[in-house]
Amino acid sequence: MDYKVPKHVAIIMDGNGRWAQKRGLKRTKGHQRGADVLKEISEYVYDKGIDVLSVFAFSTENWKRDKEEVDYLMDLFLKAFKKNFDSIKKKGVKVVFSGVKNKLSDKVLKAMEKMTLETKDNKNGIFNICLNYGGQDEIVEASKKICNDVKENKINISDINSKMFNKYMFNDLPPIDLMIRTSGEYRISNFMLWQMAYAELYFTDVLWPDFNKEELDKAIKSFNNRDRRFGAVKK
Ligand code: FPP
Repeated sequence: MDYKVPKHVAIIMDGNGRWAQKRGLKRTKGHQRGADVLKEISEYVYDKGIDVLSVFAFSTENWKRDKEEVDYLMDLFLKAFKKNFDSIKKKGVKVVFSGVKNKLSDKVLKAMEKMTLETKDNKNGIFNICLNYGGQDEIVEASKKICNDVKENKINISDINSKMFNKYMFNDLPPIDLMIRTSGEYRISNFMLWQMAYAELYFTDVLWPDFNKEELDKAIKSFNNRDRRFGAVKK
């Protein structure tokens, strides 16, 4: 049997807080460690032949957390973007962000814009960071843009299909093949609902700060044992 590499892998990096609490540390320590793990994984995936990595960095619901934790996360994003940008650029990976701008500080928005702009022509992979993101919002926003284009006679209602709908999402990405969620939670939590239509789902009890290359290999191995039929009947 041929070994299949998923083209698009999406990860819900869950369990940072519990990882820290189990060690009597502040939740923020778990996020710090989580950022290091993400660096390791984001460097590894493209070497394995995965084209797109999407990660859930911050949901539109995460603003409900304590201000101290939210501020820490925003600062961590800024630091991580700065620290890892050179290696991303060297690898030739294109960075894109999915999400809405409201509530994000100018500093964070500027850093996001810089990364997007300076990597826009890179061809060795896509790193999609979902920041201030909600899956239902993404579909609603796309629908609004489509309605607007119909109103302005740029497109006809009969032109609307799932392929063109995809172009109206935050980014025109291929469908997710494999979605990984760490920390033993069996939910998709409003993450990339549109792109996940036919994704294989992989749940592990490992907390995100303990995730590593071997754990990713396990997920890909499990993906290889799945029988993907996309609604068809196997002959
Ligand atoms: C979920 O764990 C994790 C988050 C809300 C933050 C994810 C952020 C990182 C991994 C930092 C690095 C990210 C980038 C893009 C540089 P949780 O806090 O909900 O954990 P819990 O369920 O155990 O409380």
